[in-house]
Amino acid sequence: MDGPRHAGAGTKRRHGHVRIGVPREIKPGEGRIALLPPQVARLTARGRTVIVERQAGLASGADDDDYRAAGAEVVADGGAVYAGAELIAKVKEILPAEFDLLRPEHVLLTNIHAAGDPLQLDRLLEVGLIAIAAEDTHQHGTTNSPIAGEIGALEGLRLTMAPHGGGGRHFMAHFGAPATRALVIGLGGAGRGVLRTLLGLGCSVVGLDVDPRARREAELTWHDADLTIDDIGTLADHLPEADAVFNCVLWDKTRGDHLLSRPMLATMKPAAVIVDISCDAGGAIETSRPTTWDDPVYQVDGIRHFCVDNIPGAAPVCASAGYAGLLLPWIEAVAELGALAACRRHPWLARGLTCAQGTLTHAEAARVQGRDFVPVDDFLAGA
Ligand SMILES: NC(=O)c1ccc[n+]([C@@H]2O[C@H](COP(=O)([O-])OP(=O)(O)OC[C@H]3O[C@@H](n4cnc5c(N)ncnc54)[C@H](O)[C@@H]3O)[C@@H](O)[C@H]2O)c1
Repeated sequence: MDGPRHAGAGTKRRHGHVRIGVPREIKPGEGRIALLPPQVARLTARGRTVIVERQAGLASGADDDDYRAAGAEVVADGGAVYAGAELIAKVKEILPAEFDLLRPEHVLLTNIHAAGDPLQLDRLLEVGLIAIAAEDTHQHGTTNSPIAGEIGALEGLRLTMAPHGGGGRHFMAHFGAPATRALVIGLGGAGRGVLRTLLGLGCSVVGLDVDPRARREAELTWHDADLTIDDIGTLADHLPEADAVFNCVLWDKTRGDHLLSRPMLATMKPAAVIVDISCDAGGAIETSRPTTWDDPVYQVDGIRHFCVDNIPGAAPVCASAGYAGLLLPWIEAVAELGALAACRRHPWLARGLTCAQGTLTHAEAARVQGRDFVPVDDFLAGA
Protein backbone atom coordinates (compact mmCIF):
# COMPACT_ATOMS: atom_id res chain seq x y z
CA MET A 1 0.00 0.00 0.00
CA ASP A 2 1.33 3.47 -0.84
CA GLY A 3 1.23 6.40 1.53
CA PRO A 4 1.74 5.86 5.25
CA ARG A 5 4.29 3.20 6.08
CA HIS A 6 5.75 4.43 9.32
CA ALA A 7 4.79 3.42 12.82
CA GLY A 8 5.22 6.62 14.81
CA ALA A 9 5.28 7.04 18.56
CA GLY A 10 2.17 6.50 20.64
CA THR A 11 -0.48 3.96 19.72
CA LYS A 12 0.94 0.60 18.69
CA ARG A 13 0.45 0.10 14.98
CA ARG A 14 -0.81 -3.07 13.33
CA HIS A 15 0.80 -3.90 9.98
CA GLY A 16 -0.98 -2.01 7.18
CA HIS A 17 -3.23 -0.25 9.67
CA VAL A 18 -3.44 3.49 9.10
CA ARG A 19 -4.04 5.52 12.24
CA ILE A 20 -6.14 8.64 11.80
CA GLY A 21 -5.09 11.73 13.75
CA VAL A 22 -7.31 14.71 14.49
CA PRO A 23 -5.40 17.67 15.98
CA ARG A 24 -6.92 20.80 17.48
CA GLU A 25 -6.91 23.78 15.11
CA ILE A 26 -4.57 26.52 16.34
CA LYS A 27 -5.54 29.31 13.91
CA PRO A 28 -6.97 32.32 15.78
CA GLY A 29 -10.75 32.13 16.11
CA GLU A 30 -10.88 28.58 14.75
CA GLY A 31 -12.95 26.07 16.70
CA ARG A 32 -13.78 23.64 13.92
CA ILE A 33 -12.61 20.04 13.94
CA ALA A 34 -12.21 17.58 11.06
CA LEU A 35 -14.19 14.71 12.57
CA LEU A 36 -17.02 14.69 15.11
CA PRO A 37 -17.93 11.68 17.27
CA PRO A 38 -20.44 10.23 14.75
CA GLN A 39 -17.75 10.00 12.04
CA VAL A 40 -15.22 8.66 14.56
CA ALA A 41 -17.72 5.98 15.60
CA ARG A 42 -18.12 4.93 11.95
CA LEU A 43 -14.36 4.59 11.57
CA THR A 44 -13.72 2.74 14.82
CA ALA A 45 -16.64 0.39 14.13
CA ARG A 46 -14.68 -0.67 11.04
CA GLY A 47 -11.57 -1.30 13.09
CA ARG A 48 -9.83 2.03 12.43
CA THR A 49 -7.74 3.73 15.09
CA VAL A 50 -8.60 7.39 15.64
CA ILE A 51 -6.44 9.66 17.80
CA VAL A 52 -7.95 13.00 18.85
CA GLU A 53 -6.21 15.87 20.63
CA ARG A 54 -7.61 16.71 24.05
CA GLN A 55 -10.41 19.31 23.95
CA ALA A 56 -10.10 19.64 20.17
CA GLY A 57 -13.86 19.31 19.69
CA LEU A 58 -15.06 21.49 22.56
CA ALA A 59 -15.94 24.54 20.45
CA SER A 60 -17.79 22.26 18.03
CA GLY A 61 -19.96 20.82 20.80
CA ALA A 62 -18.09 17.54 21.41
CA ASP A 63 -16.05 16.87 24.55
CA ASP A 64 -13.35 14.29 25.16
CA ASP A 65 -15.79 11.79 26.67
CA ASP A 66 -17.91 11.96 23.50
CA TYR A 67 -14.83 11.03 21.47
CA ARG A 68 -13.88 8.25 23.88
CA ALA A 69 -17.43 6.89 23.68
CA ALA A 70 -17.01 6.85 19.89
CA GLY A 71 -13.91 4.72 20.30
CA ALA A 72 -11.21 7.38 19.87
CA GLU A 73 -8.02 7.60 21.84
CA VAL A 74 -7.74 11.09 23.35
CA VAL A 75 -4.16 12.36 23.65
CA ALA A 76 -2.65 15.30 25.51
CA ASP A 77 -1.46 17.52 22.67
CA GLY A 78 -0.99 18.02 18.95
CA GLY A 79 2.51 16.55 19.10
CA ALA A 80 1.06 13.21 20.24
CA VAL A 81 -1.47 13.26 17.38
CA TYR A 82 1.15 13.90 14.69
CA ALA A 83 3.55 11.38 16.25
CA GLY A 84 0.94 8.68 16.64
CA ALA A 85 -1.00 8.92 13.38
CA GLU A 86 -0.23 8.59 9.69
CA LEU A 87 -3.36 10.18 8.22
CA ILE A 88 -3.80 13.70 9.59
CA ALA A 89 -7.32 15.09 9.15
CA LYS A 90 -7.58 18.85 9.67
CA VAL A 91 -9.67 21.86 8.79
CA LYS A 92 -7.17 24.67 8.18
CA GLU A 93 -3.73 24.99 6.64
CA ILE A 94 -0.55 23.96 8.45
CA LEU A 95 0.77 26.97 10.38
CA PRO A 96 4.48 27.55 11.10
CA ALA A 97 3.99 26.40 14.73
CA GLU A 98 2.99 23.00 13.32
CA PHE A 99 5.79 22.73 10.73
CA ASP A 100 8.08 20.59 12.92
CA LEU A 101 5.32 18.08 13.66
CA LEU A 102 5.13 16.92 10.04
CA ARG A 103 6.79 13.67 8.95
CA PRO A 104 7.41 12.19 5.50
CA GLU A 105 5.06 9.31 6.34
CA HIS A 106 2.09 11.60 6.87
CA VAL A 107 -0.87 11.94 4.57
CA LEU A 108 -2.36 15.35 5.21
CA LEU A 109 -5.99 16.02 4.33
CA THR A 110 -7.02 19.61 5.03
CA ASN A 111 -7.85 22.94 3.40
CA ILE A 112 -4.39 23.91 2.19
CA HIS A 113 -4.92 26.80 -0.25
CA ALA A 114 -1.33 26.31 -1.42
CA ALA A 115 -1.41 28.89 -4.21
CA GLY A 116 -1.49 31.76 -1.73
CA ASP A 117 0.81 30.22 0.88
CA PRO A 118 4.34 29.60 -0.48
CA LEU A 119 5.82 29.20 3.02
CA GLN A 120 3.50 26.31 3.88
CA LEU A 121 4.03 24.75 0.45
CA ASP A 122 7.83 24.94 0.88
CA ARG A 123 7.46 22.99 4.11
CA LEU A 124 5.12 20.34 2.67
CA LEU A 125 7.53 19.77 -0.23
CA GLU A 126 10.56 19.75 2.04
CA VAL A 127 9.01 17.14 4.38
CA GLY A 128 7.98 15.00 1.40
CA LEU A 129 4.59 13.95 2.77
CA ILE A 130 1.44 13.45 0.72
CA ALA A 131 -0.82 16.50 0.98
CA ILE A 132 -4.38 16.60 -0.31
CA ALA A 133 -6.23 19.92 -0.45
CA ALA A 134 -9.72 19.17 0.81
CA GLU A 135 -11.06 22.36 -0.78
CA ASP A 136 -10.48 20.90 -4.26
CA THR A 137 -12.20 17.58 -3.58
CA HIS A 138 -15.86 18.56 -3.18
CA GLN A 139 -17.76 17.46 -6.26
CA HIS A 140 -21.02 18.95 -5.02
CA GLY A 141 -19.59 22.06 -3.36
CA THR A 142 -18.25 22.55 0.13
CA THR A 143 -20.47 22.96 3.16
CA ASN A 144 -18.22 25.82 4.29
CA SER A 145 -19.16 28.20 1.49
CA PRO A 146 -22.86 28.59 2.33
CA ILE A 147 -21.98 29.12 6.00
CA ALA A 148 -19.28 31.65 5.09
CA GLY A 149 -21.75 33.51 2.91
CA GLU A 150 -24.49 33.52 5.54
CA ILE A 151 -22.19 34.74 8.34
CA GLY A 152 -20.25 37.11 6.07
CA ALA A 153 -23.54 38.75 5.14
CA LEU A 154 -24.36 39.36 8.81
CA GLU A 155 -20.92 40.85 9.43
CA GLY A 156 -21.32 43.08 6.39
CA LEU A 157 -24.71 44.30 7.61
CA ARG A 158 -23.26 45.03 11.05
CA LEU A 159 -20.60 47.16 9.33
CA THR A 160 -23.27 49.15 7.47
CA MET A 161 -24.63 50.35 10.83
CA ALA A 162 -23.69 53.89 11.87
CA PRO A 163 -21.86 52.97 15.13
CA HIS A 164 -19.52 50.75 13.10
CA GLY A 165 -18.73 53.38 10.47
CA GLY A 166 -21.49 52.51 8.02
CA GLY A 167 -23.97 54.73 6.22
CA GLY A 168 -26.73 53.89 8.68
CA ARG A 169 -29.32 52.29 6.45
CA HIS A 170 -31.48 49.55 7.96
CA PHE A 171 -31.58 46.12 6.37
CA MET A 172 -35.36 46.43 6.05
CA ALA A 173 -37.20 49.16 4.17
CA HIS A 174 -39.46 50.90 6.71
CA PHE A 175 -41.33 54.22 6.83
CA GLY A 176 -40.40 55.16 3.29
CA ALA A 177 -36.65 54.87 3.95
CA PRO A 178 -34.72 52.58 1.60
CA ALA A 179 -33.24 49.30 2.81
CA THR A 180 -29.51 48.55 2.73
CA ARG A 181 -28.35 48.19 -0.87
CA ALA A 182 -25.99 45.25 -1.36
CA LEU A 183 -23.99 44.08 -4.35
CA VAL A 184 -23.17 40.36 -4.43
CA ILE A 185 -20.52 39.24 -6.93
CA GLY A 186 -20.47 35.48 -7.61
CA LEU A 187 -23.65 33.48 -7.05
CA GLY A 188 -22.23 30.04 -6.24
CA GLY A 189 -22.24 28.30 -2.85
CA ALA A 190 -21.01 31.33 -0.87
CA GLY A 191 -22.93 33.89 -2.93
CA ARG A 192 -26.20 32.05 -2.44
CA GLY A 193 -25.46 31.99 1.29
CA VAL A 194 -25.09 35.77 1.22
CA LEU A 195 -28.38 36.05 -0.69
CA ARG A 196 -30.17 33.82 1.84
CA THR A 197 -29.23 36.13 4.70
CA LEU A 198 -29.62 39.47 2.93
CA LEU A 199 -32.88 38.72 1.15
CA GLY A 200 -34.29 36.90 4.17
CA LEU A 201 -33.78 40.08 6.19
CA GLY A 202 -35.21 42.39 3.54
CA CYS A 203 -32.20 44.05 1.88
CA SER A 204 -32.23 45.35 -1.66
CA VAL A 205 -29.70 43.28 -3.60
CA VAL A 206 -27.99 43.25 -6.99
CA GLY A 207 -26.42 39.90 -7.86
CA LEU A 208 -23.77 39.47 -10.57
CA ASP A 209 -22.18 36.37 -12.04
CA VAL A 210 -20.34 35.45 -15.20
CA ASP A 211 -22.33 32.21 -15.50
CA PRO A 212 -25.86 32.56 -16.97
CA ARG A 213 -26.97 29.40 -15.16
CA ALA A 214 -25.95 30.80 -11.76
CA ARG A 215 -27.79 34.02 -12.57
CA ARG A 216 -30.95 32.20 -13.65
CA GLU A 217 -30.93 29.93 -10.60
CA ALA A 218 -30.72 32.92 -8.24
CA GLU A 219 -33.43 34.74 -10.13
CA LEU A 220 -35.81 31.78 -9.93
CA THR A 221 -35.07 31.04 -6.28
CA TRP A 222 -35.71 34.61 -5.10
CA HIS A 223 -38.32 35.67 -7.65
CA ASP A 224 -40.39 37.34 -4.92
CA ALA A 225 -37.54 39.23 -3.22
CA ASP A 226 -35.88 42.59 -3.95
CA LEU A 227 -33.19 41.02 -6.14
CA THR A 228 -31.88 42.36 -9.44
CA ILE A 229 -29.69 39.97 -11.40
CA ASP A 230 -27.21 41.34 -13.88
CA ASP A 231 -24.18 40.40 -15.92
CA ILE A 232 -20.74 40.82 -14.33
CA GLY A 233 -19.93 43.45 -16.96
CA THR A 234 -22.25 45.89 -15.16
CA LEU A 235 -20.23 45.88 -11.92
CA ALA A 236 -18.95 49.45 -12.33
CA ASP A 237 -22.52 50.69 -12.89
CA HIS A 238 -23.85 49.16 -9.67
CA LEU A 239 -20.84 49.91 -7.45
CA PRO A 240 -21.66 53.57 -6.57
CA GLU A 241 -25.10 52.57 -5.23
CA ALA A 242 -23.87 49.84 -2.86
CA ASP A 243 -23.74 50.14 0.93
CA ALA A 244 -22.04 46.75 1.08
CA VAL A 245 -20.23 44.72 -1.59
CA PHE A 246 -19.84 40.97 -1.14
CA ASN A 247 -17.29 39.15 -3.28
CA CYS A 248 -17.94 35.41 -3.62
CA VAL A 249 -16.20 34.71 -6.92
CA LEU A 250 -14.12 31.57 -7.31
CA TRP A 251 -11.17 33.46 -8.75
CA ASP A 252 -8.60 32.00 -11.10
CA LYS A 253 -5.49 32.84 -9.09
CA THR A 254 -3.29 32.82 -12.17
CA ARG A 255 -5.13 35.90 -13.50
CA GLY A 256 -3.31 39.18 -13.09
CA ASP A 257 -6.35 41.43 -13.49
CA HIS A 258 -9.13 42.29 -11.03
CA LEU A 259 -12.90 42.76 -11.12
CA LEU A 260 -12.78 45.60 -8.61
CA SER A 261 -9.54 47.55 -9.02
CA ARG A 262 -8.15 50.08 -6.56
CA PRO A 263 -9.20 53.15 -8.62
CA MET A 264 -12.79 51.86 -8.54
CA LEU A 265 -12.85 52.32 -4.73
CA ALA A 266 -13.14 56.06 -5.38
CA THR A 267 -16.51 55.49 -7.05
CA MET A 268 -17.97 53.83 -3.93
CA LYS A 269 -19.88 55.50 -1.13
CA PRO A 270 -17.27 56.55 1.48
CA ALA A 271 -19.14 54.61 4.20
CA ALA A 272 -19.53 51.47 2.10
CA VAL A 273 -17.88 48.21 3.11
CA ILE A 274 -16.36 45.39 1.08
CA VAL A 275 -16.86 41.90 2.48
CA ASP A 276 -14.52 39.70 0.51
CA ILE A 277 -15.61 36.15 1.26
CA SER A 278 -13.24 34.79 -1.40
CA CYS A 279 -10.41 36.88 0.12
CA ASP A 280 -7.75 36.03 -2.45
CA ALA A 281 -4.84 38.44 -1.96
CA GLY A 282 -4.91 40.73 -4.98
CA GLY A 283 -7.58 38.55 -6.62
CA ALA A 284 -11.00 39.67 -7.82
CA ILE A 285 -10.70 42.61 -5.40
CA GLU A 286 -7.29 44.20 -5.99
CA THR A 287 -7.05 45.63 -2.49
CA SER A 288 -7.90 42.43 -0.59
CA ARG A 289 -5.68 40.52 1.75
CA PRO A 290 -6.83 37.80 4.15
CA THR A 291 -7.57 38.83 7.74
CA THR A 292 -8.46 36.99 10.96
CA TRP A 293 -11.38 37.13 13.39
CA ASP A 294 -8.97 38.83 15.85
CA ASP A 295 -8.47 41.76 13.47
CA PRO A 296 -11.04 41.38 10.70
CA VAL A 297 -11.30 44.82 9.08
CA TYR A 298 -8.80 47.21 7.48
CA GLN A 299 -9.16 50.26 5.25
CA VAL A 300 -7.82 51.11 1.81
CA ASP A 301 -8.50 54.60 0.47
CA GLY A 302 -11.12 55.01 3.21
CA ILE A 303 -13.09 51.89 2.23
CA ARG A 304 -13.39 49.22 4.92
CA HIS A 305 -12.50 45.67 3.89
CA PHE A 306 -13.63 42.59 5.84
CA CYS A 307 -11.58 39.63 4.58
CA VAL A 308 -11.62 36.92 7.26
CA ASP A 309 -10.43 33.71 5.64
CA ASN A 310 -12.02 31.32 8.11
CA ILE A 311 -15.50 32.76 8.47
CA PRO A 312 -17.21 29.40 9.25
CA GLY A 313 -14.88 29.15 12.26
CA ALA A 314 -17.37 31.50 13.92
CA ALA A 315 -20.03 28.78 13.89
CA PRO A 316 -17.99 25.64 14.52
CA VAL A 317 -20.89 23.48 15.72
CA CYS A 318 -22.57 23.74 12.32
CA ALA A 319 -19.42 24.06 10.21
CA SER A 320 -17.73 20.99 11.71
CA ALA A 321 -20.86 18.91 11.22
CA GLY A 322 -20.91 19.78 7.52
CA TYR A 323 -17.17 19.45 6.93
CA ALA A 324 -16.80 16.16 8.83
CA GLY A 325 -19.52 14.63 6.69
CA LEU A 326 -17.68 15.70 3.53
CA LEU A 327 -14.32 14.42 4.74
CA LEU A 328 -15.39 11.00 6.01
CA PRO A 329 -15.60 9.19 2.63
CA TRP A 330 -12.11 10.43 1.70
CA ILE A 331 -10.70 9.35 5.05
CA GLU A 332 -12.24 5.92 4.62
CA ALA A 333 -10.85 5.65 1.08
CA VAL A 334 -7.33 6.74 2.07
CA ALA A 335 -7.31 4.47 5.12
CA GLU A 336 -8.45 1.51 3.04
CA LEU A 337 -6.39 1.97 -0.12
CA GLY A 338 -3.54 4.34 0.73
CA ALA A 339 -3.49 7.92 -0.47
CA LEU A 340 -2.23 7.50 -4.02
CA ALA A 341 -4.33 4.43 -4.82
CA ALA A 342 -7.36 6.27 -3.40
CA CYS A 343 -6.56 9.20 -5.74
CA ARG A 344 -6.35 6.81 -8.68
CA ARG A 345 -9.74 5.36 -7.75
CA HIS A 346 -11.45 8.71 -7.03
CA PRO A 347 -10.80 11.54 -9.54
CA TRP A 348 -12.33 14.14 -7.22
CA LEU A 349 -9.89 13.20 -4.46
CA ALA A 350 -7.06 13.35 -7.00
CA ARG A 351 -8.03 16.96 -7.82
CA GLY A 352 -6.79 17.85 -4.33
CA LEU A 353 -3.42 16.13 -4.58
CA THR A 354 -1.04 19.00 -3.90
CA CYS A 355 2.31 17.31 -3.42
CA ALA A 356 3.78 13.90 -2.72
CA GLN A 357 7.33 12.81 -1.97
CA GLY A 358 8.60 16.32 -2.65
CA THR A 359 6.92 16.65 -6.06
CA LEU A 360 4.45 19.48 -6.59
CA THR A 361 1.30 18.31 -8.39
CA HIS A 362 -0.93 21.35 -7.86
CA ALA A 363 -1.15 23.19 -11.18
CA GLU A 364 -2.58 26.44 -9.78
CA ALA A 365 0.03 26.73 -7.01
CA ALA A 366 2.78 26.01 -9.55
CA ARG A 367 1.56 28.68 -11.97
CA VAL A 368 0.96 31.33 -9.30
CA GLN A 369 4.33 30.76 -7.63
CA GLY A 370 6.34 29.96 -10.79
CA ARG A 371 7.33 26.47 -9.62
CA ASP A 372 7.89 23.28 -11.60
CA PHE A 373 5.16 20.68 -11.24
CA VAL A 374 4.01 17.32 -12.51
CA PRO A 375 0.32 17.10 -13.46
CA VAL A 376 -1.60 14.88 -11.04
CA ASP A 377 -2.52 12.25 -13.67
CA ASP A 378 1.09 11.94 -14.84
CA PHE A 379 2.29 11.66 -11.27
CA LEU A 380 -0.27 9.01 -10.38
CA ALA A 381 0.54 7.05 -13.53
CA GLY A 382 4.23 7.03 -12.66
CA ALA A 383 4.05 6.63 -8.89
N1 LIG B 1 -13.66 33.31 3.80
C1 LIG B 1 -14.02 32.07 4.09
O1 LIG B 1 -14.04 31.67 5.25
C2 LIG B 1 -14.47 31.16 2.98
C3 LIG B 1 -15.20 30.00 3.28
C4 LIG B 1 -15.63 29.21 2.24
C5 LIG B 1 -15.32 29.56 0.91
N2 LIG B 1 -14.57 30.67 0.68
C6 LIG B 1 -14.21 31.07 -0.69
O2 LIG B 1 -15.36 31.57 -1.34
C7 LIG B 1 -15.12 31.51 -2.76
C8 LIG B 1 -16.36 31.02 -3.46
O3 LIG B 1 -16.57 29.67 -3.11
P1 LIG B 1 -17.88 28.90 -3.65
O4 LIG B 1 -17.88 27.58 -3.00
O5 LIG B 1 -19.05 29.79 -3.54
O6 LIG B 1 -17.51 28.73 -5.19
P2 LIG B 1 -18.54 28.37 -6.36
O7 LIG B 1 -17.72 27.73 -7.42
O8 LIG B 1 -19.71 27.63 -5.82
O9 LIG B 1 -19.08 29.79 -6.85
C9 LIG B 1 -18.23 30.71 -7.47
C10 LIG B 1 -19.07 31.57 -8.41
O10 LIG B 1 -18.18 32.56 -8.96
C11 LIG B 1 -18.60 32.75 -10.32
N3 LIG B 1 -17.49 33.35 -11.06
C12 LIG B 1 -16.32 32.79 -11.40
N4 LIG B 1 -15.56 33.68 -12.07
C13 LIG B 1 -16.28 34.82 -12.13
C14 LIG B 1 -16.04 36.09 -12.66
N5 LIG B 1 -14.89 36.38 -13.29
N6 LIG B 1 -16.99 37.02 -12.53
C15 LIG B 1 -18.16 36.75 -11.90
N7 LIG B 1 -18.45 35.56 -11.36
C16 LIG B 1 -17.53 34.61 -11.48
C17 LIG B 1 -18.93 31.35 -10.80
O11 LIG B 1 -19.73 31.37 -11.97
C18 LIG B 1 -19.66 30.78 -9.59
O12 LIG B 1 -21.05 31.01 -9.67
C19 LIG B 1 -13.90 30.60 -2.94
O13 LIG B 1 -12.77 31.39 -3.23
C20 LIG B 1 -13.73 29.95 -1.58
O14 LIG B 1 -12.39 29.59 -1.28
C21 LIG B 1 -14.15 31.46 1.68
